[in-house]
Order: sequence, then C-alpha cells, then structure tokens
Amino acid sequence: MSDWLVGHYNLVRALHIIAVIAWMAGLMYLPRLFAYHANATPGSEMDTTFKTMEAKLLGIIMNPAMTAAFLFGFTLIWIDAHTRAAGWGFLKEPWMATKLVGVVFLAGWHGFLAGARKRFEAGTNQRSSRFWKMTNELPFIAAVVMVLAVTLEWGAK
Ligand code: HEM
Repeated sequence: MSDWLVGHYNLVRALHIIAVIAWMAGLMYLPRLFAYHANATPGSEMDTTFKTMEAKLLGIIMNPAMTAAFLFGFTLIWIDAHTRAAGWGFLKEPWMATKLVGVVFLAGWHGFLAGARKRFEAGTNQRSSRFWKMTNELPFIAAVVMVLAVTLEWGAK
C-alpha cells in the first residue's frame, strides 16, 4: 500500500491541484454572490434565486472540493514524510509551515462564508455589499502565497 501510494505521488498531486482549483473558484465566487445578494429585497424573486445559487455552490462544489483538497493534501503529507530527507520534520520547514498557515486561514474563511450563507438564508445578513467586495480578494492573496511557498520551497533542507 505505502509503495503503491509513493509510486502514485504525481497522480495524487494532480488530483490535489484539481480539487484546490474547484475549492478556490467557490471561495472567490460565493462572496461575489453575497455582494449582490446584500442589495436584494428580502422575499423578492432575486433573494430566492441568490439563496438557491449560494446553497448549491456551497453544497455541490465547495464542500466536496474542500474535502477532496484535504484528503489528497494529507496523502501528500504522508508520502512526503516517508520520502523526504527531513521525514515528518518537513512540516516545520518555512515553506510548508507557510502553506499550513494558509490552509488554516482558507478553512476558517470557508467556515465564515458558510455561516454567512446561513444568515442570508434566514434573512438576517447585516454585512454590506461593500464588505463582501472588499474581502473578496483575501482567499486569492492567500492562494498566491501558498502556491509560491510549495513551488519555491523556501527554507527546504
Ligand atoms: C487543504 C489542505 C491542504 C493540504 C493538507 C496541502 C498539502 C500539500 C502537500 C503536502 C503538498 C506536496 C508538497 C511537495 O512536497 O511538493 C501540496 C502540493 C501542492 N499544493 Fe497543497 N495542501 C492543501 C491545500 C492547498 C491549497 C488551498 C492550495 C492552493 C491555494 C494548494 C496548492 C498546492 C500546489 C500548487 C501544490 C503542488 C506543488 C508542487 O508540486 O510543486 N494546496 N499540498
């Protein structure tokens, strides 16, 4: 099993990146929907349409994509720990530590957006369209830092 996994490292990496692309698309699109939804009159046809779009985006794309990104990501961690010179110590190298901080931030941001979706659903959203437009780029900035960290591997042994 372990040899088989190590032999399929590149495939796992590809599946990880595909899952990450779908997750990131959702993390950047959902706040866009919120920005327009915040201006819709409660109970209007527009309000109902946004609620459906948001529920489907989160339930059908974002939650499964995040789960897949984590599953493949943890598989990569396991393979790395068994093939790198540093062993499990690679998790403490600056590039991987940066990546893990980014992972925690994005997972937290995902949870924050899921909570906001529930408030939109209940008609109790208090945040403005401006708030959603201003925070929209945060996951993208995190993704840029994370991709640079894993590709450049700064501080790797
Ligand atoms: C969800 C939790 C995540 C975990 C546990 C995780 C973990 C990992 C690990 C261990 C690797 C292999 C590093 C290596 O040895 O080259 C990797 C590769 C990669 N990850 Fe993640 N990752 C996660 C999420 C993300 C996210 C959100 C992004 C982008 C924003 C991302 C982008 C990448 C890229 C581009 C690679 C390929 C790097 C390369 O081969 O050069 N990952 N990930």
